Amino acid sequence: MTPLLALPAAPDTRSPLPAPLGGTLVWQVSGREAAELAHLPRLELNARGMADLEMIATGAYSPLRGFMNEADYRSVVERMRLHDGTPWSVPVTLPVPGERARELRGEVALTHHGRVVGRLQVSEQYRPDKDREALEVYRTRDETHPGVAALRAAGAVYLAGEVELLALPRGDFPAEHLTPHEARAAFAARGWRSVVAFQTRNPIHRAHEYLHKVALELVDGLFLHPLVGATKSDDVPASVRMRAYGALLQHYYPAHRVLLGVYPAAMRYAGPREAVLHALSRRNYGCTHFIVGRDHAGVGNYYGTYDAQEIFSAFGREELGIEILRFEHTFYCKTCGAVASRRSCPHGDAHHVALSGTRVRDLLRAGEPLPPEFSRPEVAEVLRSAYRDRS
Ligand code: ADX
Repeated sequence: MTPLLALPAAPDTRSPLPAPLGGTLVWQVSGREAAELAHLPRLELNARGMADLEMIATGAYSPLRGFMNEADYRSVVERMRLHDGTPWSVPVTLPVPGERARELRGEVALTHHGRVVGRLQVSEQYRPDKDREALEVYRTRDETHPGVAALRAAGAVYLAGEVELLALPRGDFPAEHLTPHEARAAFAARGWRSVVAFQTRNPIHRAHEYLHKVALELVDGLFLHPLVGATKSDDVPASVRMRAYGALLQHYYPAHRVLLGVYPAAMRYAGPREAVLHALSRRNYGCTHFIVGRDHAGVGNYYGTYDAQEIFSAFGREELGIEILRFEHTFYCKTCGAVASRRSCPHGDAHHVALSGTRVRDLLRAGEPLPPEFSRPEVAEVLRSAYRDRS
């Protein structure tokens, strides 16, 4: 591997924040010029491939240093662990069409939108068992599941090998686009000894806010970490969601206890398996706690309401290295006049307003107002005007 130009300071071993998975925060960003790779065969990455390259190279997927080889892939699919036993739940692989595989050996220049962005040292090529992958990772072979559809559409051969990223992407939200090294430094600068991460792909609603605020009673800081990589087309665009988070934070959160960052990964919609990936990656970002509510990373009716919580029992607390804060289904109770769950509210369904990203999207599409039980007025205004402009 090329010497690394921009290696950040090693994480402080006396820090109260958890060590990255595998012990070392991976950093494979070289700062080299694209011209140096001009002689290599090229492979164009789609949005997910690009996101995975960034996640690996910046340490968000530590201990991975590249796209998985067959031993790791099979082990992850079959037993949710890398070959060496480290917990890992979702294959991180680089599929290519069978007819292209022959020319992609040795060093390969990785491109995105035609620009050279990195390099892959191909160490192995193998054919995945996509049926097994679909059933184990997504728990279905139904091709209307967006994760399974992407799996089926992808090439038949997986390339494995270490990667190099030339330059750090700063994306559409440069101020919030923090690498794990930067997030850890930001937590340390704030003096946070415990940090809860919140993954979301939806416009923020009152149930989310409730989870944050309950968690903030327990820990020093909240890392609000919306996923901004590829999502399915009917999800609300990241730019709109970011404006909504900004409005909520400005009006309803103590600034010194919250940090807004973006999570550049693509959404896989793998429900429980993805919840584990989300948690492990947030440990790499330096978080001590991770929120998992109902149907985390789910889509349609593929997963049970609490499957994404139960899956964590497959791992020991130590090896996971991040505490899971499990939340029951949360709603607004008109009689309590508050957001609550069955653990705290005695009233029946008729008293409750169900809160979910899907409901928010449905109301917006129908041009209906978002009621205050659902959304803070400042957030509702951001979402409503974005939808009005779109239609
Ligand atoms: S996700 O795909 O990123 O999980 P979403 O943004 O809807 O989707 O959810 C973010 C987090 O909030 C997840 O942990 C999810 O389980 C939790 N969550 C969302 N809505 C509720 C709710 N009404 N009650 C409890 N947890 C919820």
